[in-house]
Amino acid sequence: MGLGLYFKAVEVYNMAIQDTVKELQERFEGKSADEVLDYFLKAYKGKIALSSSLSYEDQVLTDLIVKKDPATRIFTLDTGRLFPETYKLIDKTQMQYGIELEVFFPDFNNIQKMVREKGINLFYNSEEDRHLCCQLRKLEPLHRAFQGLEVWICGLRRSQSVTRTDMKVVEWDAKNGLIKVNPLIDWSEEQTKQYVHDNHVPYNPLHDKGFPSIGCEPCTRAVKPGEDIRSGRWWWEDPTHRECGLHK
Ligand code: ADX
Ligand code: SF4
Repeated sequence: MGLGLYFKAVEVYNMAIQDTVKELQERFEGKSADEVLDYFLKAYKGKIALSSSLSYEDQVLTDLIVKKDPATRIFTLDTGRLFPETYKLIDKTQMQYGIELEVFFPDFNNIQKMVREKGINLFYNSEEDRHLCCQLRKLEPLHRAFQGLEVWICGLRRSQSVTRTDMKVVEWDAKNGLIKVNPLIDWSEEQTKQYVHDNHVPYNPLHDKGFPSIGCEPCTRAVKPGEDIRSGRWWWEDPTHRECGLHK
């Protein structure tokens, strides 16, 4: 096939998938997490996975997914800088549900070079260095975790942050060439906590100590009651920039 034909074929494919995503978006807007998962887990079996940071939201999704189809892939990115509580929760979740959480690690050569050149805690130096660390510790392994996938399930909620208010239940992630599904997009924090409580879902004890959103240990701190949920993440940066690049 000539190069021109190839690009034409890619263009046609992209347009077709964007139409599909638009239809799915309209069909599932305002629908329950159960309805969304029932459809996607069946329609994309073997090509769908949940990325879990072990947060409240991801633990709710793990519980819902395991009860529907325990063979669904669930993976987590171990940046090497997580809280001890998060590591304990990885084990606890695997034991309680009898599943394997696929753990993905960053490339050690990348991390070694970055740390030797910029320091172990480079993220405090500048936004640029912080993004470099997120790129190498999260985004690079994420791309390896995506192999073979067509659909990526996430625990995003609109009310989590000013950066998330426009997100949809189904989106086209052009950067990664994936359909992104956010079954909890309309859930409130209260609703999420209630589900965890009612269903005896294992959760990170840091949530009870003022950490509504938990990422890497050096980039997460507790927040005061009433403060923005994500204000403890990269708290030294502008609130409109506080994303690691996974969900831009
Ligand atoms: S982040 O981009 O700021 O880190 P947040 O912690 O709110 O995101 O998590 C949002 C969603 O991103 C999670 O529900 C999960 O799907 C995905 N995610 C975030 N961190 C990880 C991680 N370490 N491993 C796997 N998925 C993650
Ligand atoms: Fe690095 Fe902090 Fe990003 Fe974790 S959250 S990857 S420690 S910059």
